[in-house]
Amino acid sequence: IVFTEKQEALVKESWEILKQDIPKYSLHFFSQILEIAPAAKDMFSFLRDTDEVPHNNPKLKAHAVKVFKMTCETAIQLREKGKVVVADTTLQYLGSVHLKSGVLDPHFEVVKEALVRTLKEGLGEKYNEEVEGAWSKAYDHLALAIKAEMKQED
Ligand code: HEM
Repeated sequence: IVFTEKQEALVKESWEILKQDIPKYSLHFFSQILEIAPAAKDMFSFLRDTDEVPHNNPKLKAHAVKVFKMTCETAIQLREKGKVVVADTTLQYLGSVHLKSGVLDPHFEVVKEALVRTLKEGLGEKYNEEVEGAWSKAYDHLALAIKAEMKQED
């Protein structure tokens, strides 16, 4: 895998921008997930009993932050080591949480699209295809590691 310094920098810089308004972007991220895949709603404990995406819900924010932050960390590892390194215990935990929640492979594409749309919203004119490419690549590698773990647990 070739992940360049430029790609790493783009991911880090854009995460710095989105990080400045977690409530706003985590809400946007989940609204996009539900717009793309309305049925995904019932998998999330914090969405199951509501009609709207709740504002300032800690669990919602935590999931959004995890997806962005772990993708950003993956970008750093891809550049430094040429591969994804997630601690075994973390990967096992991620595998079991998602398997138990009923998450399926196609959901990872939904979340990727929501992530891209959220970047577009947050970055405005700083958004471009290079930024999208860098995030997509890092996300794909992370998602692959989680999906592989989910299959092991099956
Ligand atoms: C839970 C990360 C993709 C659905 C979690 C948790 C983490 C996490 C860390 C545990 C949260 C906690 O500590 O309670 C990630 C990462 C992803 C990813 C890094 C991709 C790179 C997805 C996808 C879906 C999904 C694609 C499905 C659309 C869920 C659900 C839970 C969960 C339903 C349980 C949350 C709850 O009900 O409280 N995820 N996730 N995740 N994730 Fe993901």
